[in-house]
Amino acid sequence: MSGPSFAGRDIVSVRDFSRREIDHVLGMAEVMEPLLRKGSDMLHGRIMATLFFEASTRTRLSFESAMTRLGGTALGFAETKGTSVEKGENLADTVRVVERYADVLVIRHPLEGAARMAAEFASVPVINAGSGAEEHPTQALLDLYTMRKELGTIDGLTIGMIGDLRYGRTVHSLAYALSQYKVKLLLISPDILRMRREVLEEVSKKIDVEESASLKEHLKEMDVIYMTRVQKERFADLQEYEKVKGSYRLIAEDLSKTKKNSIVMHPLPRVDEVDPDVDSSPHAKYFQQVGNGVVLRMGLLGLVLGVL
Ligand code: NCD
Repeated sequence: MSGPSFAGRDIVSVRDFSRREIDHVLGMAEVMEPLLRKGSDMLHGRIMATLFFEASTRTRLSFESAMTRLGGTALGFAETKGTSVEKGENLADTVRVVERYADVLVIRHPLEGAARMAAEFASVPVINAGSGAEEHPTQALLDLYTMRKELGTIDGLTIGMIGDLRYGRTVHSLAYALSQYKVKLLLISPDILRMRREVLEEVSKKIDVEESASLKEHLKEMDVIYMTRVQKERFADLQEYEKVKGSYRLIAEDLSKTKKNSIVMHPLPRVDEVDPDVDSSPHAKYFQQVGNGVVLRMGLLGLVLGVL
């Protein structure tokens, strides 16, 4: 298949990819759709290792599901308890060991830069499944895929990111990725959770960005309402968290004020920022978003393992 080559590549940051490459990954996710239920033996005999040093439900299970759907095998750990990390093994050694057992490594780690470091030590492809508050590139790709699938296009959209834009890694990766498209970004957060400066600086060079503290004021403008959880675990001072938790809460009634085709997205897990009464609204797409994570990761695994 023609297109940019991904075989053997690391997926550490969305900033490492051009728009053409991102579009190619999204195209591959679409190709994977029919295989989601039917399955395939495309990755038969291949092994993926998941090294998760931090909590996860969706990311780890969707990678495992994607690998299994394509006929491959998954192994790994979901917490460091019971692994040699408890004995003091460092990340570089863990990576150089596990790469002997697998063809691709999927890593989640609380430290920023951990995935980049793992990629430097590993000779097999490394996929960043979340590096501290820094980035979560595969989430950004599945978010783009969801926008394209639900709204038919990414160019031309006004996308609101709401909540914790400081510690939320999904919004960092998503903002970088969206800066390759012709979109407008509305960054809505309490003052202390404003978008990370380095992301804001880079992204606002390329696209129109507006910051605000009010969700209600901007409901009418958004095509995508991307809600996020306040990342309690990243606060050094829990009193600060107490001040901003519950800053935004989207309720079903708010949706009567939005564009007819607007969609509500959330990387999940949610705490209280999206009321359960939104779930039955046709605007709510966060569970579809979860499903899109599987096809996206099927495509990505196929690409980095060189079979697509
Ligand atoms: C996100 C994460 O881990 O960054 N979860 C996910 O992977 N879908 C978002 C979050 O934890 O709030």
